[in-house]
Amino acid sequence: MKVLGIETSCDETAAAVVSDGREVLSNVVNSQVEFHKKFSGVVPEIACRKHIETITCVLDEALKKAHCDFSSIDRIAVTNRPGLIGALLIGLSFAKSIAYARGIPLVPVSHIEAHAYSACLTHMSLSGPYISLVVSGGHTSLYLVKDFKSFDLLGKTIDDAVGEAYDKVAKVLGMSYPGGPEIDRLVRSYKGKAVSFPRTYLEKDSLDFSFSGIKTAVLYKVHPPANKTSWEKEKVLSEQDILSVAKGFQESIVDVLVRKSIAACQRHDCRKLAIGGGVARNSRLREKLLEECSKRNIETFYPDRAYCTDNAAMIAGLGYYQPPIGTEAMMTLDATPTI
Ligand code: KG4
Ligand code: ZN
Repeated sequence: MKVLGIETSCDETAAAVVSDGREVLSNVVNSQVEFHKKFSGVVPEIACRKHIETITCVLDEALKKAHCDFSSIDRIAVTNRPGLIGALLIGLSFAKSIAYARGIPLVPVSHIEAHAYSACLTHMSLSGPYISLVVSGGHTSLYLVKDFKSFDLLGKTIDDAVGEAYDKVAKVLGMSYPGGPEIDRLVRSYKGKAVSFPRTYLEKDSLDFSFSGIKTAVLYKVHPPANKTSWEKEKVLSEQDILSVAKGFQESIVDVLVRKSIAACQRHDCRKLAIGGGVARNSRLREKLLEECSKRNIETFYPDRAYCTDNAAMIAGLGYYQPPIGTEAMMTLDATPTI
């Protein structure tokens, strides 16, 4: 079965064709990052305009690369939740129009569940039950994935997402957007000391996350309140200072993600941990998860880099396993900004 995936939940316009849920025939992503860079974050109005400008070309290219036309597409999977509402509505309306005009069944897919599924595009035989850690710019969640129809949410961030924290901290440190890859790259080649920052674990046994505290701690370290007396008072931070703050921030974040992921595996007696979302590209997170998980006999599964950040292959892949909706339901199907 060939599924066409369409994804426009944030700042990537994407279309892909995936066969039988696993084999990626094409995966086209048009990133808008250059247009959002100068604002240090995604501007919804710009995102919507760019989706409208590019969605037709992105779809054409995805079909062409997969050597398909609409007659060989068995199903359309589209992200309808969560995300920027205007951006979601563009992809959803586009997908509905094609589905209706061509009589192709439509499947609405959750963007976050698709990130939780994404490692299956790389690890062809990966199946549930497994624990999935989703770490993206907009979400941080732990799921128990059973059969790709039900995703049990075990924990989520109560404030900032981990990618969001990376991007905001990078901005405070004078780096460009998106800051996650920049912090990763700079810290990787830095062998010096790290500033010690707190770890937020919340209540005992909680699988929820909170990253607003570490973000504020970094902000105060760099721009201390007036009554502080230390090197922090100096206006210009040395490169060494910036790197030690960035390293300390990353160590704090990674420790929390690793500890909670392992706790989720142990609580559900699960020996498989899949990681998804843009921050799954982070080298320190990968290193530490591998180290700690292998000590406990837990196997880790990562998507290829192309399937970590937003893409439509993960939407098409998961859409293969989920039930399509009828024409009547399709007419009233809406987009939802939250999970
Ligand atoms: O999954 P994604 O493409 O978009 C959302 O669904 O939000 O994730 C984007 C996020 C950004 O915040 C970016 O800074 C972060 O992923 N990111 C990274 C790395 N690569 C991307 N964060 C840390 N280390 C990286 N190597
Ligand atoms: Zn995403």
